[in-house]
Amino acid sequence: MLAGQPIVPTKAEWRLCESLHLCEEESESLLVAMRRGNAARQAVVFSPRAPQGYEPPFACAESSHFSWLPARVRIPAEGESPTQHADYAAGMYYVLDLSSCWEGAALSALAEAPIRSLDMCAAPGGKSVLLAAQFELRDHIANEVHAARRGILRQNIELCGLPNTRITGLRPDQWGKSGDLFELILVDAPCSGQSLLCKGIKNPGCLGKAVVQGNAKRQRGILLSALHCLAPGGYLLYSTCTYSLEEDERAVAYILRRASGVSACDVPALAAYRSKLAEFPAYRLLPHHGAGAGGFCCLLQRKKTNS
Ligand SMILES: C[S@@+](CC[C@H](N)C(=O)[O-])C[C@H]1O[C@@H](n2cnc3c(N)ncnc32)[C@H](O)[C@@H]1O
Repeated sequence: MLAGQPIVPTKAEWRLCESLHLCEEESESLLVAMRRGNAARQAVVFSPRAPQGYEPPFACAESSHFSWLPARVRIPAEGESPTQHADYAAGMYYVLDLSSCWEGAALSALAEAPIRSLDMCAAPGGKSVLLAAQFELRDHIANEVHAARRGILRQNIELCGLPNTRITGLRPDQWGKSGDLFELILVDAPCSGQSLLCKGIKNPGCLGKAVVQGNAKRQRGILLSALHCLAPGGYLLYSTCTYSLEEDERAVAYILRRASGVSACDVPALAAYRSKLAEFPAYRLLPHHGAGAGGFCCLLQRKKTNS
């Protein structure tokens, strides 16, 4: 791509921009980010090992632009390499894309701290660390169905010193039948990963219909299983790192149609990112927002039973 030349979208890119109802300027900026792969933006999440008042040993960027940023998260200044410091090796902080932190910021809408929490798709562990940065973990499960990814999950959980945390490897349908109930479930779902393109990571086929539909089907199954183990009054945070409507708003719309007593919650901290593609509160981040490669999140809540 040469500077100054208009971008000619492929059919799949054009279909994506159309389906998201992006204006010309937004489409252009999404396509540029996907082609250049330079929209990644790092954040560091303080782990439970970092004491109150901790500040990392490198310069951080002004974060007042991101009012939703959780208190124990910082954005390294340009040129800084947070993984080069001894504090990183000591597990004082975990490095995550800023858009993952944006998704986790939806937890600010929880009415109370969860007692039992389940991170259903946990490896390599970023969302569990982010949860621990916002709430005291009291009884947490970091679950990863793929055995090959459980090792890195265990390593990160141990390095970051997450308290009261067990690691499991059940499938979502096994959780659904387990009879366990959680006040908070994180479903950071496997997805087509379209935002990887904006981080400069090759992901061939991620815009293709078959890949998107396959992921959308899997996500619906995971969400339905997760709802089976959501306690009355409990929350489920659904997030993806992809842009497609089918895997984001439509996946949630399907769940809201299928499951009774479940609703999508307002997240005041993310109001500026409210999706126009859903009638319920759901939130969308795109590269032009300047907070990383982008993502989607929606906070669901099961109705409290009358007692
Ligand atoms: C987006 S990644 C999770 C990232 C993680 N939450 C973090 O913040 O570090 C999705 C995870 O879902 C797992 N996964 C893949 N297929 C799955 C399935 N059918 N059910 C549940 N999890 C699955 C993947 O192995 C992967 O670890």
